[in-house]
Amino acid sequence: MTELIWDGKYDKDGRKTAPLRVALPFQTVETVNESAADRQRTLNMFAQGRETEWRNRLIWGDKKYVLPSLLPEFAGKVNLIYIDPPFNVGADFSFTTTIPDSDESFTKEPSIIEQKAYRDTWGRGMDSYLQWFYETVVLLHELLAEDGSIYVHLDWHVVHYAKIVLDEVFGPGLLKNEVVWKRSAIATSVSTQWRNSHDTLLFYGKDTADNVFNVQYGEYSESSKKHYSRIDERGSFRTVPLMASGRTSGISGQPWRGIDVANRGKNGMHWLKSPDILEQLEKDKLILWNSEGIPELKYYLDEAKGVYVSDFWDDITVINSMASESVGYATQKPEALLERIIKASSNEGDLVLDCFAGSGTTATVAEKLKRRWITCDLGRFAIHTTRKRLLGIPEITPFVVQNLGKYERQAWQATLSPGPSPKVRGEQEKEGNATQTTQSLRPSPLSPSPGGRGVGGEGQAQRRYIEFILQLFNAKPISGYAWLHGVRGGRMVHVGSVDAPVSLGDVTNIAIEFRKAVGSGKDAPTSNSIDVLGWDFAFEMNEVARQQAAAANIQMRFLRIPRDVMDKRATDSGEIRFFELAALEVEPTVAARKREVVLKLTNFVIPPDDVPEEVRTAIKSWEQWIDYWAVDWDNKSDTFHNEWQSYRTRKDKTLQKQVTNTYEQPGEYRVVVKVIDILGNDTTKTLMVRVQ
Ligand SMILES: C[S@@+](CC[C@H](N)C(=O)[O-])C[C@H]1O[C@@H](n2cnc3c(N)ncnc32)[C@H](O)[C@@H]1O
Repeated sequence: MTELIWDGKYDKDGRKTAPLRVALPFQTVETVNESAADRQRTLNMFAQGRETEWRNRLIWGDKKYVLPSLLPEFAGKVNLIYIDPPFNVGADFSFTTTIPDSDESFTKEPSIIEQKAYRDTWGRGMDSYLQWFYETVVLLHELLAEDGSIYVHLDWHVVHYAKIVLDEVFGPGLLKNEVVWKRSAIATSVSTQWRNSHDTLLFYGKDTADNVFNVQYGEYSESSKKHYSRIDERGSFRTVPLMASGRTSGISGQPWRGIDVANRGKNGMHWLKSPDILEQLEKDKLILWNSEGIPELKYYLDEAKGVYVSDFWDDITVINSMASESVGYATQKPEALLERIIKASSNEGDLVLDCFAGSGTTATVAEKLKRRWITCDLGRFAIHTTRKRLLGIPEITPFVVQNLGKYERQAWQATLSPGPSPKVRGEQEKEGNATQTTQSLRPSPLSPSPGGRGVGGEGQAQRRYIEFILQLFNAKPISGYAWLHGVRGGRMVHVGSVDAPVSLGDVTNIAIEFRKAVGSGKDAPTSNSIDVLGWDFAFEMNEVARQQAAAANIQMRFLRIPRDVMDKRATDSGEIRFFELAALEVEPTVAARKREVVLKLTNFVIPPDDVPEEVRTAIKSWEQWIDYWAVDWDNKSDTFHNEWQSYRTRKDKTLQKQVTNTYEQPGEYRVVVKVIDILGNDTTKTLMVRVQ
């Protein structure tokens, strides 16, 4: 077989460079639209060790980790895959959004993690793109069911290479179609070459014969409709012959109603229907006797299914910014395109996967067509856009938002220690290696355990981690403390663990140690300020902990460790920035006897560092920062259950600022409010309410 070779396809021992194979456990960070009863049922089933009900899944993560992590559960089980991978250099990650109640809009430039993905794909030009694409396709092939299908959406930049890679992974003869989708014509270089106006969809089946395919019919063209020129009381129709050339000896060659077909035409003819069917057609008035006394079948326009859809699709228009389905995502594809693919290549209840969700078109259409779906994207905006889009579907079935959270970080942290697990670090595994177990990727011995941080023997790896983060934060490491790890500009610095959110307990320990340290030793604090760096923060952290610290006369700031620190190239380039948590104020009012709680957003403050200048000047009031907010009325310190939400859409930019909930039972409830701001970051706030 002809093979495409690129630099990096084979390692120095001549083995194919295979995809990373890690099975990291997914963390459910949010449930959406799940009723209290569903939630209880899920908890009970889980407690009894029974398999919980299916939930569609929106996953925030890089496909490089997500796809191998799906394999243990879904290998051979996905019925349809549609991917629309980045292929138009650079355009895929920026995001234009408008500022509510202002005429301003701004383009959110790609985050460093998104730029990293871009570099993963294009960093070494076509060689790295092809390796990236090949690794994606190998995993997708394993996920696909035997009768499954995949559609790969590309354009002229790479489609010719992709086809050869897909042939290699799927095997020869598995390409079913090369579909040309005529989108709008791009008006660049029109004076030197033909206007570029189409994308290509490569459609492969996993097996030569078996893939699900439901024939789709398209509208007749006006010229085809003209053939239905005759009219009777039932409508417009055309006629088609009931006989064809060639004499036959069976019943189709016998005379019917006095017409001897065998003696007609040059070499005789035969009937295309058996005599009893011809009788039935005659009874049903579906036969027209023409002027020569020959019967013809009537074919009515309103009963015709339409024309078989070909591999040239020019009847689906590209989304323009005014289109009602537009969510403002630059690379958003039309729902009609996905509708055609999903209807043709899957059935109700089937599982559809798209690992480049973008604005969530695949999941949205799969949901509307009653398919199950899994979709992922590494972009924060993609996940947020998809979540809002799905919420706009009436009666959306419950779904979960997941990520790989601490496991992805642990896998990364393990690479910082000497002698890291080669399976985590090495993406140069021999093809066919077994999937690494989840267990082996929980590097608990390497993870900082809060109390012992920076002191004990297991500290090697954890010290490396802490030093690494301190270095990125431009802080100097200090020794002799368990909870204080560095100093920067006179402020002490604490580095949160990769495994767990910074909690109130951590803050107490930091404060106690800080008080003890004042005035003693060479690294003793010289001011009363501490920067607490964390990957995640316990819900109540920002305000409560800050207040607690202030009461102890300590100024505490909480800064998020960006995911970008896991990208070596980003860290080498010194692009890393740590942003302070936003602050949210919510006012609860509990009605005297009605078990009614009114929640009102009263303030939201984003620390200025993260914000583009033009946005800062356009924003006049705190509400304009908020794009979406949701409430979990009875949080059990587990996943955030999105029970109510208000959000802005392109059509309706208003945001409800107050909401009322009536509890069925008296008691004390933990209420969690989650805000997503126009920059795509989320902030949560927890409150306790007591109803009588
Ligand atoms: C062309 S867009 C998909 C658009 C989508 N079909 C729609 O209709 O909105 C490609 C998407 O792939 C995502 N992406 C790029 N590299 C990725 C990776 N390594 N893992 C997951 N998502 C990735 C980008 O964030 C972007 O949203």
